Amino acid sequence: MVAGNWKLNGSREGACSLAREVAASVVTGVDVVVCPVSVHLPEVAEVLKGTDVKLGAQNACAHEGGAYTGEVSSTMLAEFGCDYVIIGHSERRTLFGDTNESCAARHQAVMAAGLTSIFCVGETLEDREAGNTAAVVDAQLQAVFDLGGKQALDGAVVAYEPVWAIGTGVTASPEQAQEVHAHIRGFVAKQDQAAAAKLRILYGGSANPGNAAELFSKPDIDGGLIGGAALKSADFLAVCQAAAVQA
Ligand code: PGA
Repeated sequence: MVAGNWKLNGSREGACSLAREVAASVVTGVDVVVCPVSVHLPEVAEVLKGTDVKLGAQNACAHEGGAYTGEVSSTMLAEFGCDYVIIGHSERRTLFGDTNESCAARHQAVMAAGLTSIFCVGETLEDREAGNTAAVVDAQLQAVFDLGGKQALDGAVVAYEPVWAIGTGVTASPEQAQEVHAHIRGFVAKQDQAAAAKLRILYGGSANPGNAAELFSKPDIDGGLIGGAALKSADFLAVCQAAAVQA
């Protein structure tokens, strides 16, 4: 699976053109998802109609409705054709105050609405240098289990996104990434073995056409969550092709 996280980029027409370019190239054997900003979702959904490319949002409210200014609910996203929602991206956690607990609540709402959460975890450089990578990732995942029970990640997608690699041009080495991915699968297996076995764990953090094939060759790396390289259709499609080769 390869998901493009378009973040806060693009114009109405630009988002549609990018979606059109991605959808025009069929990549078989890979689930391809694009995640535009929320106001672009309806028009991008129209562009993707009848194609194999799926639509995702970048966040969702933990609540169905009510006095939550500025939020969008999972049910509303589903109504506009979303199948996936990115939850707990490090930019949400560091810039907008999302906590392990609030991310868990958002995740639960997404799954309850029948959508698939792409639940992001990852450590800062400081965490890694202090030897705390596993502890940080475990706490992020544990909050989901604490709220939703042992099956809380069944059918979800997890994205391992080391904060120090996001948008920096510095990628985790395939070995570094594989080590954390295997750890994540093991941690989930302690709660739910069946869910862990089929869990798709994506790598994110400066993944691009130059490094994707090697990353995706690792046994526990099941695809990518792509930021910068998802904004150019040729680069994004090259990453999708790299995943197709491994599929
Ligand atoms: P990047 O972003 O590929 O630009 O590092 C990845 C992400 O934030 O999802």
